[in-house]
This record gives sequence, C-alpha cells and structure tokens, in this order.
Amino acid sequence: MTTNLMVNGKNRTSDAEKKTPLLYVLRNDCDINSAKYGCGVGQCGSCTVLIDGKAVRSCITPLESVKGSITTLESYENDRVLNALNRAFIKEQAVQCGYCISGMMMTAKTLLDKNKNPSLDQIKTALNNNLCRCGTHTRILKAIQLAAKELSA
Ligand code: FES
Repeated sequence: MTTNLMVNGKNRTSDAEKKTPLLYVLRNDCDINSAKYGCGVGQCGSCTVLIDGKAVRSCITPLESVKGSITTLESYENDRVLNALNRAFIKEQAVQCGYCISGMMMTAKTLLDKNKNPSLDQIKTALNNNLCRCGTHTRILKAIQLAAKELSA
C-alpha cells in the first residue's frame, strides 16, 4: 500500500510496509540523509526528526503512526532556528565524526522554538538523551548557546 507523507514541505510517497521504521522510509524513499541509524532502539537520538514540531526517534516510529508533517535537517535553509544552529555548529567546530549532529540539531531546534534564551542547564536537559561518541558535548553546548544568542538578539 502506498503511504503519502509530507517531508520538509514536499509530498512524498512510500510503498514500505506499514510497520517499517520511519527512519528507513525517509532514507530509502524520501532522499533524506541527515537522520542516522545509531542504536535502532530509541536511545541515542541520531535518528531524531520532527513531526509537527515534536522531536521523535524515527528508528522506533512505525510508518503507520506518522500523521503529521515531517521536518528534517535538510530544511535548514528555510528555517531560521536550524539556520542559526547550522552556522553556530560550524563556528564552534562542534562536529567531529558528525554522525549524531543532525539529531542534536533537531532536538536543539525544539528547545529554541520554545525558548530563545535557554540557560545552560536547560540546554543540557534538552540534549540529555542525545549521545555523542566523539565527546564534543562541550562544543555542542557552546554552539547551541551561540545560536540562542543570535536568535534572542
Ligand atoms: Fe534512533 Fe538511536 S537510532 S535513537
């Protein structure tokens, strides 16, 4: 059965089985490369995308459960918050291998969408369940603070 999806403002279709994780559908059928397979069990955050603005772990989100509009990091050029995060992550050199970064940025976007001036503790809490194996957490936090500073100016 064909499923219709809205991904970054564009209509997409998938013939995947209804239990297929959204992550596979995005990567295989929707030309999305940003969301990554890390743990596959909802624990690392590398597969994070937004559905109607809410962060979800796409590796454990079955296709049949997706009802809203999906946003991924590919939309950063058209999104003020993701754009600020993108520039800040580059400026702070917050990426080492980069595998986790899309998930980090999408999670950070949900925070900054609600709170343009979060405290360091609020950033840490928001990112608490996104893992980085390279250990660039300090730079990631700095980058989010820098993006927040720009957005709240
Ligand atoms: Fe989805 Fe780790 S791959 S949370």
